Amino acid sequence: MKIGVLVSGSGTNLQALLDAEARGELAPAEIAVVVSNRPGVKALERAAAAGKPAIVVDHKAFTDRAAFEDALLAALRDCEAVVLAGFMRVLTHHFVEKFPLRIVNTHPSLLPAFPGVDAPKQAIAYGVKVSGVTVHFVDTSLDGGPIIEQRTVRIEPGDDAAALHAKIQREEHRLLPQVVQRLAAGRLSCEGRHVVERAE
Ligand code: GAR
Repeated sequence: MKIGVLVSGSGTNLQALLDAEARGELAPAEIAVVVSNRPGVKALERAAAAGKPAIVVDHKAFTDRAAFEDALLAALRDCEAVVLAGFMRVLTHHFVEKFPLRIVNTHPSLLPAFPGVDAPKQAIAYGVKVSGVTVHFVDTSLDGGPIIEQRTVRIEPGDDAAALHAKIQREEHRLLPQVVQRLAAGRLSCEGRHVVERAE
């Protein structure tokens, strides 16, 4: 299954996906294209270094969301599924309806706690003792689609947002490729909000 990876920044999750693919652990998923909404980001370098097409669709170049999403869809035309790996734009129905239960996102908190930007900072500010990563299906809500998998990390005294994010990223770099593999293998389905997984 050809997948497109959408990125906005450093691309450490993209790297985890590329490394998993190189180890043969992503199949039947195959990374076909990487698309960034921001020019000049490290994620684009990572894609190019792995020999993947790396395309910029700069949201600032579009006057409305539908035109931006049409350009994303054109870049993803060969793809059957989409992974949001640090992609920091909300997608509308116009985009989401094209990939029913075929878009996943990774988010650095235990959703539904701390959606949106700066989730580790929100968690530290709130004073929670446990946080983690959530990989979920994408719908048109902000980080609100059905949850596929979560992993927890403990927050120790002295942890700041950067330290927490680093702990979370260790978990998400392991989890995201596993979920993408299971999605591509056709093991994931939804009953309402509940993600059901078929055994191998
Ligand atoms: C990741 O930790 C991801 O969970 C988060 O952005 C980071 C991107 O890092 N995503 C969100 O906050 C989405 N709401 P990366 O570019 O190094 O993969």
